Amino acid sequence: MATGHPSPAPRSPRSPFWASVMARKPLSQVLPHEVEGAPSLARVLGRWELTALGIGAIIGAGIFAATGSAIAGGANHLGAGPGIVLSFVVTAIACAFAALCYAELAAMVPVAGSAYTYSYVALGELVAWIIGWDLVLEYAVGNIAVAISWSGYFVELLRTFGVVVPAWLETDVRTALIAVAERTAGSTDPHVLLSASAWDDAPRLLGVPIIFNLPAFLVVGVVTIALLFGVRSVARSTGALVIGKILIVLFFIAVGAAYFRPENLTAHGGFFPNGWAGVSTAAALVFFAYIGFDAVSTAAEEAKDPGRTLPFGIIMSLVICTVLYMLVAVMLVGMAPWDRLGTAEPMVTALEYAGGSPQVIAVLQVIVAFGAVLAMTTVLVAFQLGQPRIFFSMARDGLLPAWAAWVHPKYRTPWVTTILTGVVVATVAGFANINEVIELTNIGTLFAFALVAAGVLVLRRTDPDRPRPFRLWGAPWTPLLAIGSCLYLMLQLPLITWIRFLIWLAIGVVIYFVYGRRHRRLATGAAVSG
Ligand code: ALA
Repeated sequence: MATGHPSPAPRSPRSPFWASVMARKPLSQVLPHEVEGAPSLARVLGRWELTALGIGAIIGAGIFAATGSAIAGGANHLGAGPGIVLSFVVTAIACAFAALCYAELAAMVPVAGSAYTYSYVALGELVAWIIGWDLVLEYAVGNIAVAISWSGYFVELLRTFGVVVPAWLETDVRTALIAVAERTAGSTDPHVLLSASAWDDAPRLLGVPIIFNLPAFLVVGVVTIALLFGVRSVARSTGALVIGKILIVLFFIAVGAAYFRPENLTAHGGFFPNGWAGVSTAAALVFFAYIGFDAVSTAAEEAKDPGRTLPFGIIMSLVICTVLYMLVAVMLVGMAPWDRLGTAEPMVTALEYAGGSPQVIAVLQVIVAFGAVLAMTTVLVAFQLGQPRIFFSMARDGLLPAWAAWVHPKYRTPWVTTILTGVVVATVAGFANINEVIELTNIGTLFAFALVAAGVLVLRRTDPDRPRPFRLWGAPWTPLLAIGSCLYLMLQLPLITWIRFLIWLAIGVVIYFVYGRRHRRLATGAAVSG
């Protein structure tokens, strides 16, 4: 968002301090076609390409992995059991409200910075900074979870071909320690025993066991290198991969229908074994599976007729994934006893209980594991592509150092932020526990969605005459319901997640006051480079 013009002085009667941190970016400075000389991207994406982009970012670790602990429960939360189906409905409703808000803003402000840019226009600079900082939780931290899950399925796939990765090279130290504790408490679950063996078998360096998730580290490294060399156009045309992953999900649904046993829905404590508490906690966890429809808005500058196609892509990708998820959820709890599904690969685990011939089941498991690896690779690409773009937008606004907006002269990619994101995501993915990372991603993304909904309300008041090619229905109730439902889901997450989230936001606020506020371009109207 080039800011070649001096910005108007804020008209607020507030103190200069508040006037500056609350300064809103004029829409005219944000819309690319209104910026003289701004390079524009080719508008090539139609409504179905945008839908494919959304599905590419949505179907991944959430449905293939997080659903397991949402159904069966985990160290610090209850499981929904077969009630997971209702959890998916609850979360879909919250996401639908949020998607409508995204659709209105994306059509009105069709630029690439997503929620960060919308909030700069609607809610002012400090909130925009907070949302940009918060989006790191959605994109970079979210990808840490996807990489860990990718690793789980990949290792499973290798195992079926006789290649065994030692447990200490495919897990993290926290997961190993949790498994040791569960084993000590008497667990005989084979997945627990395998993770615990990482602790026993790990080589020691000065007495410290080396436990590192190598595949998770490597896959992020490979994706980062690919993106560095300018495969953005490849990443944008993930159409074939998206169709591939929809087919795999449909395949799982068909297999599930064949092996469905209705008694699994009621035999182990009933349909709602942990009541509403289990359902609502699981709803907050499976939210991870829905994240990604908002990524459609990052392609705003490449969309044909964005006023129409962006709302279509955002809403349609969410609708398609919602239908698929409901069916997958029904099949999972119909194929296996729900309390057996608490693994990192619940779809493969469910097949273990399917009761078919071992050879057939093994083949089915390979197909599903392969599909999961494929699906998660597209999510990794989408988010690993999105994060540097958000940093890039923030650096162009002066809220991050100028080097974060450097573009590689040959490959035309934001190489500094791409490498930085890659190194951090890959390294943390090697050490982190997936459930903790998913919870942190969810709380951060829910908060971003709530702020986007607030942005709709504010812009309707402050800019009522601006054309809105897509007007969401039912305002102000729809944005209010979006805010309410996102806050409700946030409240279902554990206290420790809230503490981590608030620490993250506090660090962000400190960085803003130490750096961003002093270098902001909105105040100085300085010419923009990069
Ligand atoms: N929704 C994305 C996934 O499930 C983040 O992997």
